[in-house]
Amino acid sequence: MPPPKSSGPPKPPARPLALAGREPFARGRRRHCYVHPDDPDLCVKVAADAGDERCLREQARDLRNYRWLRSLGSDSVFDRIPAVEGTVDTDLGEGIVMRLYRDHDGRISRNLAQVIVERGLPPPLVREIDALKRWLWKERLLTRDTAPYNVVAVRSPDDRWQLMIIEGWANLRYRWVTWLHPLVKDRLIARQLGKFDRRVSKLVERRIRNRAQ
Ligand SMILES: Nc1ncnc2c1ncn2[C@@H]1O[C@H](COP(=O)(O)OP(=O)(O)O)[C@@H](O)[C@H]1O
Ligand SMILES: [Mg+2]
Repeated sequence: MPPPKSSGPPKPPARPLALAGREPFARGRRRHCYVHPDDPDLCVKVAADAGDERCLREQARDLRNYRWLRSLGSDSVFDRIPAVEGTVDTDLGEGIVMRLYRDHDGRISRNLAQVIVERGLPPPLVREIDALKRWLWKERLLTRDTAPYNVVAVRSPDDRWQLMIIEGWANLRYRWVTWLHPLVKDRLIARQLGKFDRRVSKLVERRIRNRAQ
């Protein structure tokens, strides 16, 4: 059946979402993150500098990676990755709309780097880092440069955390070679996780230095 013809006067074009003048809740290297003005459980990420090619590339890469993950047809791969709703036109350029992680008390979750610098590595956090790594192996997910500041630590009421990866979900550069040679993929995942561990150790050292000063 053909879609019903729209009736009434044509709708005026939707106005861009107003973000300018609001305070972003986080400023990453390439993007600024805002709480969605219409939904406190969503965030909108826009290029930190709309004229900077690298910022725009980061936006496009997120969307490409997310589409690729969806094409895998696995539900469990989204257990630690936020749902992306799509894009929205904002007065600061195109925004990516995704789930905003909040702790049990409603506060926006901190990233893992912030949590480690503040609290060190309490045993529940060590266990959760381990769980994240095991999950990456189980999903056989080769991420791109998963650093602690690209992982969000969602705190539950019993003082535990759940770690979620908020960007760099896939390294598509190696997708063909790793598809053809699973052993290469093993090596690359191991290398990625080794790098992640070294970054965690550096943050712990930074905390020790800060406390000694
Ligand atoms: N979905 C989210 N939920 C909670 N915090 C987030 C979310 N996405 C990003 N953040 C916070 O914003 C910071 C910057 O976001 P990110 O996507 O890493 O930007 P950039 O590409 O500039 O690095 C993150 O380090 C994290 O603290
Ligand atoms: Mg980041």
